[in-house]
Amino acid sequence: MNEMLETKIDHVGHFDKSYDDFNYARWRLEDIFSFYHHSRIIQTALIGSAPSLYLLDVGCGPGVDAITLADYAGKIVGIDFSPKAIKIAQELAKEYRKDSKLSFLCCDAEKLPFEEKTFDAVFCMNFLHHLERPEKALQEMARVLKKGGKLLVVEMNPRNIQMNIISRLLKHERLILRNSPQYLKSLFVQAGFLKIEMSFQEYVCQPLVSYYLRKKLLFSMIEKESSFGRLITKIYGYKNSLFKRIPLIKNLTTYIVIQAER
Ligand SMILES: C[S@@+](CC[C@H](N)C(=O)[O-])C[C@H]1O[C@@H](n2cnc3c(N)ncnc32)[C@H](O)[C@@H]1O
Repeated sequence: MNEMLETKIDHVGHFDKSYDDFNYARWRLEDIFSFYHHSRIIQTALIGSAPSLYLLDVGCGPGVDAITLADYAGKIVGIDFSPKAIKIAQELAKEYRKDSKLSFLCCDAEKLPFEEKTFDAVFCMNFLHHLERPEKALQEMARVLKKGGKLLVVEMNPRNIQMNIISRLLKHERLILRNSPQYLKSLFVQAGFLKIEMSFQEYVCQPLVSYYLRKKLLFSMIEKESSFGRLITKIYGYKNSLFKRIPLIKNLTTYIVIQAER
């Protein structure tokens, strides 16, 4: 078996196992820390969104982002290589959405089963660093995007302490270390994207922290509509805008967000 295929199968096996913990996906949809964290990311994704927007979420995992983004788009397709992720995404979509905007499909991002120029926008989060050769997936994203269509990629930033430790400790996250802004930009240029812009977002990977702390310390979930939830949302917002003003800290965010146009 060639090495590339082996790596892919190993990766999917790893994710399949991690998706045994179904509650993590639910937690990310309902807990205030996770919701707020994702809504921040998603606010960025909304640039150019419209009720008729046809969006593709590549490497969608259990569908958390696609489900959240469904409020802002006309139709969303999520794809992932892990059959278990797709099954969870389909179940959660049924549970959390009454409309039929969402569909999920198990396939390889390096060989997307869509016609050229199908989508208005492509979104992918925490995905590129799982590929040995992200060039191929980016070329596929370029192919299925309409001319002028938007790509929004959220990637882990190895300059963030939390991300740096994760990438050194976990084999499946090791390629985070390759994510310099220069490297990421070169990938987008190579795939033919235009108007490439980068920004730095979020200082703590909140879903991970809050979920695992809760499990260890038995916190209960803080719902986003509770008054405590709303207070936390405010504090969280102040923290981010404060850190962004400090020169030595401002680029040490959890995420690098790259936007580009086809
Ligand atoms: C860290 S998860 C991110 C999931 C989701 N985007 C999120 O932020 O919750 C990475 C996902 O990429 C998927 N993946 C890895 N290689 C893939 C490939 N070649 N094609 C499609 N999906 C792939 C994995 O199965 C996994 O679900």
